[in-house]
Amino acid sequence: MSYQINDVEFKKFSGLIYDIAGITLTDAKKTLLTGRLSKRLIALDLKTYTAYFKYVTDPSHKDELARMVDLLTTNETYFFREHQHFEFLKQIIPTGVSPAKPFRVWSAASSIGAEAYTIAMVLADKLGEQGAWEILGTDISHSVLQQAAKGQYKISEAEKIPVPYLKKFCLKGKGSQEGTFLIDKKLRQHVSFQQLNLNVEGMRKVGEFDVIFLRNVLIYFDIPTKQRVIENLIPCMKSGGYFIVGHAESLSGITNALTSVKPTIYQRR
Ligand SMILES: C[S@@+](CC[C@H](N)C(=O)[O-])C[C@H]1O[C@@H](n2cnc3c(N)ncnc32)[C@H](O)[C@@H]1O
Repeated sequence: MSYQINDVEFKKFSGLIYDIAGITLTDAKKTLLTGRLSKRLIALDLKTYTAYFKYVTDPSHKDELARMVDLLTTNETYFFREHQHFEFLKQIIPTGVSPAKPFRVWSAASSIGAEAYTIAMVLADKLGEQGAWEILGTDISHSVLQQAAKGQYKISEAEKIPVPYLKKFCLKGKGSQEGTFLIDKKLRQHVSFQQLNLNVEGMRKVGEFDVIFLRNVLIYFDIPTKQRVIENLIPCMKSGGYFIVGHAESLSGITNALTSVKPTIYQRR
């Protein structure tokens, strides 16, 4: 069964996801929205988007609102995506990090964790599995974080992981786990995940980081949202720390607090 959405209804939903997550859905995204939300109308036996809007904005249906946010976020990611960033990371990892001051990296729109574990492989290779390093992965979507915390993926997702890392840091599933691989616990113990909305001011305290990866999420934000999000994140950078955005993104005209090191890579002086 297909449900039609009218302009007024679309505006209500695009306004809602903008207010919550800062995500801009242009009119061209109407099909995307209905494609993703129609299953919720079916599951809840609601006949119109107006009825679903009323349901989802009812304060007693907070779980449904979180589910709607999950459905309206785009979570595409893969291991070693935009691999030049990891070559850069290798160059800036200091030698001799002390346990009192671990090297800290934040994957700030982590999706299912492929970015965080890619960083983990690079750090483990340079600083050792017992080294003083930690990674935080955060995302607005609860469902992706569940998979991230498990660290288990389809074997097809291992495609871009260099073979030596695959051998060293990933365990091939056997029996009922056939067709999957698991990130080794030696790496997982350095990585934690938590739900965090980048669009909320006065963000929860996450400490200061040597490197922040904020890749392939700014593209969903308009300029005021980009500015607000970057402003929220800058206090979480150590002085001299690096900030990395996706290859289709730029901080030019967004902030003066960071200096461009090379395209998509910035530094807090
Ligand atoms: C396309 S994925 C990018 C994943 C990874 N950084 C990469 O480059 O492969 C974008 C992620 O941003 C998350 N996201 C969108 N809006 C957000 C917000 N306001 N706060 C936190 N995460 C958000 C989505 O849930 C999604 O998982």
